[in-house]
Amino acid sequence: MAIFEGKATLVTGAGSGIGRAIAQAFAAEGSRVMIADVDAKGGEETVKLIEAAGGTAAFQKADVSDQASVEAMVKAVVDRFGRIDHAVNNAAVDPEVTPESDWDITVLDRILSINLRGVAMCLKAEIAAMQAAGGGCIVNLASMAGVVGVPNKPFYCAAKHGVVGITRSAALAQAKNGIRINAIAPGFIETPMALANLEPGGMTVDFIAGRNPTRRIGRPEEIGAAAVYLCSPYAGFTVGQTLSVDGGVSVS
Ligand SMILES: NC(=O)c1ccc[n+]([C@@H]2O[C@H](COP(=O)([O-])OP(=O)(O)OC[C@H]3O[C@@H](n4cnc5c(N)ncnc54)[C@H](O)[C@@H]3O)[C@@H](O)[C@H]2O)c1
Repeated sequence: MAIFEGKATLVTGAGSGIGRAIAQAFAAEGSRVMIADVDAKGGEETVKLIEAAGGTAAFQKADVSDQASVEAMVKAVVDRFGRIDHAVNNAAVDPEVTPESDWDITVLDRILSINLRGVAMCLKAEIAAMQAAGGGCIVNLASMAGVVGVPNKPFYCAAKHGVVGITRSAALAQAKNGIRINAIAPGFIETPMALANLEPGGMTVDFIAGRNPTRRIGRPEEIGAAAVYLCSPYAGFTVGQTLSVDGGVSVS
């Protein structure tokens, strides 16, 4: 039997890549899924994919860097499905590789506003809704860049380290309320974001795969499976953790 029958899940940034795979994984386990994204075209596509597979999903256009939009997004889940059991805060940007000699602080502001401030605003609204309902599970998408430094990614790295920190703090505060909060730190996963970050003449997928202990890069559905696990009863005593899903890179 599907483990999330009758449940409702919110996934931000679910119009592409990892977010789409997470939404599909929750739908495959019987949950109804609210697909939230700034990109309506990608979001609607995810809804169609889930419906074609026999699942239930709806789209809510949302910008996680905008407080009113975030509040409307969480309200839309409860209005549409009557409840909110899980939330996966996945939406993020990784706009460019900035040489350390040429830090553009406006890029820092943009990355933080979506990747960290956005996660904070989502957590605030989701926790309020889950407290009212008596519990829930939240997963934040961090990154390997949230646990180790990455040359030429100082701003993305700062935001993702922040996601790990806010996950731990919020998890400690909410555990007694029946709200479990954890994070996932993916390694290199084949998505539009990751592929767009390969510089021409620089690192290739083959090069990255060759340095991974598994000799391959990750697949979005492998992050979807990790998010399902963290929200499932199998992870009932797992609180405030950042689960690396990276083929072993972080321990090599
Ligand atoms: N792909 C990887 O290798 C990798 C590795 C580590 C961590 N991650 C993390 O996984 C998550 C998903 O990444 P991905 O590779 O699938 O990226 P992606 O670019 O394929 O998808 C990101 C989605 O987020 C949406 N989005 C962007 N800004 C938004 C906003 N302000 N409000 C709402 N939606 C917004 C985009 O429209 C897009 O649909 C991100 O948090 C990313 O940092 C990815």
